[in-house]
Amino acid sequence: MVKRALVTGVTGQDGSYLAELLLAKGYEVHGVVRRASTFNTSRVDHLYVDPHEEDARFFLHYGDLTDGTRLATLLSKLHPDEVYNLGAQSHVRVSFDEPEHTGDATGMGTIRLLEAIRQVGLDCRYYQASSSEMFGATPPPQDESTPFYPRSPYGAAKVYAYWVTRNYREAYGMHATNGILFNHESPRRGETFVTRKVTRAVARIQAGLDDHVYLGNLDAVRDWGYAPEYVEGMWRMLQQDEPDDYVLATGVPCSVRDWVSTAFDHVGLDWEKYVRFDERYLRPTEVDALIGDAGKAERAVGWKTEVTPDQLVRIMVDADVKALEHEGRPWIDAVSLPSWPSAHLAS
Ligand code: NAP
Ligand code: GDD
Repeated sequence: MVKRALVTGVTGQDGSYLAELLLAKGYEVHGVVRRASTFNTSRVDHLYVDPHEEDARFFLHYGDLTDGTRLATLLSKLHPDEVYNLGAQSHVRVSFDEPEHTGDATGMGTIRLLEAIRQVGLDCRYYQASSSEMFGATPPPQDESTPFYPRSPYGAAKVYAYWVTRNYREAYGMHATNGILFNHESPRRGETFVTRKVTRAVARIQAGLDDHVYLGNLDAVRDWGYAPEYVEGMWRMLQQDEPDDYVLATGVPCSVRDWVSTAFDHVGLDWEKYVRFDERYLRPTEVDALIGDAGKAERAVGWKTEVTPDQLVRIMVDADVKALEHEGRPWIDAVSLPSWPSAHLAS
């Protein structure tokens, strides 16, 4: 039997890697895409196969985490074996500007999806994209038993989503698992997260297209891993007989300043000549340090990272340098891409 997965947030960084992984494992993959006035599927365009083809295993459907009825309709139509809830307003700084929307999509969206699964009576496995941002002000190292102390509307929404996932597990016996993932990055990372903002700026400065980049707090410390390894961890969690909660992290601390300096060094530039400060990029409350302990995931699901932060910086700078030659498509090696007829999006 071919397994069927439903992925919210399939157009995001993680959703695109997860879809690739599941397809490679033989799954039929259904992704939920928000309707937009422009195409928003660039991260998954390379997975496109005409759905009329017999071997098509990747399908997109319009839907939104703010629309519970639509989620129930999709679930009752598709009957997935596994549901991965990766959709979210995921930007911490933006969550201070749009707190209500963030609570709605990131927090309430989770209970809408869980409740839709319950109402439809689906016997599926559920993955919740929980976040190290939930630890917030609690000092590192952080693991599954560390108390949450969120420092942003995003972090608070993720704490709510974490707890309703656990509650549906305990109340209704659902196979519902939280992956508490520390920051993970890649050439597909959104351009406004600090890692990608920096690697993209390095490529543009080196090419003579820009002469500086504005950043905020350089003292923050994060635990940056490589996204393709993290989606493998998500899948492994759902293959366990029992649902549980797991941290995924490298355990290696790296400050924003270190990331910046390594990125500029990689192309032979002195970062201090190009980086300027803009308070616009500060947060009203900052998360100073996130450093995870993924020992439980290593022991229980056999997951471990291999890519170090230094290697990750180089992967991302090299991809952004190459992207300039390929007009912004760093992750796709093929030169010619299939077109994506919008009609195939309609379900
Ligand atoms: P991302 O690149 O920002 O992708 C977010 C995805 O959610 C996009 O596909 C986005 O669609 C979709 N989305 C946003 N609002 C939605 C809504 N109302 N309904 C349905 N879909 C919606 O995020 P990511 O880095 O891949 O992260 C995936 C998940 O893991 C997120 O839940 C994030 O909060 C969480 N997480 C990420 C990290 C990390 O370091 N990357 C760490 C811990 C947890 P559009 O493409 O249309 O915007
Ligand atoms: N985005 C951004 N832009 N961050 C900056 C900048 C800037 O110009 N300058 C400094 N920073 C600092 C932020 O203040 C923060 O301390 C750190 O860089 C990382 O910021 P982000 O890359 O925006 O990521 P994040 O850690 O806030 O959130 C990411 O990781 C979470 C997991 O811990 C996101 O992916 C979240 O969705 C995820 O849950």
